[in-house]
Amino acid sequence: MTAPDASEAHAEREQAVTDKVLGSFADTPDARHRELFEALVRHAHAFVRETRLTEAEWEAAIGFLTRCGHITDDRRQEFILLSDVLGLSMQTITVNEPDEPRATEQTVFGPFFAEGAPEIEVGGDAAQGAAGQPCWVSGTVTDVDGTPVAGAEIDVWEADDDGMYDVQHGDGRVTGRARLRSADDGRYSFWCVTPTPYPIPHDGPVGDLLTAAGRSPMRASHLHFMVTAPGMHRLVTHIFVRGDDHQDSDAVFGVKDSLVVDFVEHPAGETAPDGSTPDVAWSQADFDIVLAPEETA
Ligand code: BEZ
Ligand code: FE
Repeated sequence: MTAPDASEAHAEREQAVTDKVLGSFADTPDARHRELFEALVRHAHAFVRETRLTEAEWEAAIGFLTRCGHITDDRRQEFILLSDVLGLSMQTITVNEPDEPRATEQTVFGPFFAEGAPEIEVGGDAAQGAAGQPCWVSGTVTDVDGTPVAGAEIDVWEADDDGMYDVQHGDGRVTGRARLRSADDGRYSFWCVTPTPYPIPHDGPVGDLLTAAGRSPMRASHLHFMVTAPGMHRLVTHIFVRGDDHQDSDAVFGVKDSLVVDFVEHPAGETAPDGSTPDVAWSQADFDIVLAPEETA
């Protein structure tokens, strides 16, 4: 038998490292842990081998992750941002989405949900003083057969027209968020502000990554929803404003066609569905929400 050539021998040494590391996880007691550890090793080793990663690049990557750690605190989560811009958050959501084509599609949760939002009645004010154009949002919550879901808990949150969530202002304000419950006929409605585009936090290592890739930090204009009801799969989603320029380049890959909604413009002085007559121009969006049953999760 002839000796392997240099590159063949090199490949064998590389594979031997991978096999040895895989072997170290063979006795992992929890089967799911073992599956995850082994797949991580297989894919990470394949990445290093495929890209012929240099030691300088490996060090740069460790430096990048260290910077992600240093900038992360109770209010800033750079690792989730990293997951978001690499599409890992959207892929995890897609893998876990109920296999129910009639249900409203899911999208990213994002870092700006906050517990303790003001509770409002149907037709109430979710803007809570956020700056922006008034916007009336309404729809019906149903199950996949079209039966209204009464009492569904609906959380909504959004940035103001400076592109800032209340928590980013750092002054304790609670604006642009609320919780309400669907009525007996499944209907819901509220006032908020017309969503506008805004950048994800990009003054840290994830922003540097986007710059290096020539990518935009902008998110397409959206309003967040989280909807829960007994026996139903939790829905985390947004509605996006049709016509927004950032839909094809949303920094976190969150846009889905089914979630793009018309925000119809109305002039000042036109009477709104709740009988009020705003003295400024306002917009209106309809969004029916279809919840999947829990067991399709
Ligand atoms: C957001 O929608 O608020 C968001 C989502 C992902 C990363 C940053 C912000
Ligand atoms: Fe958002």
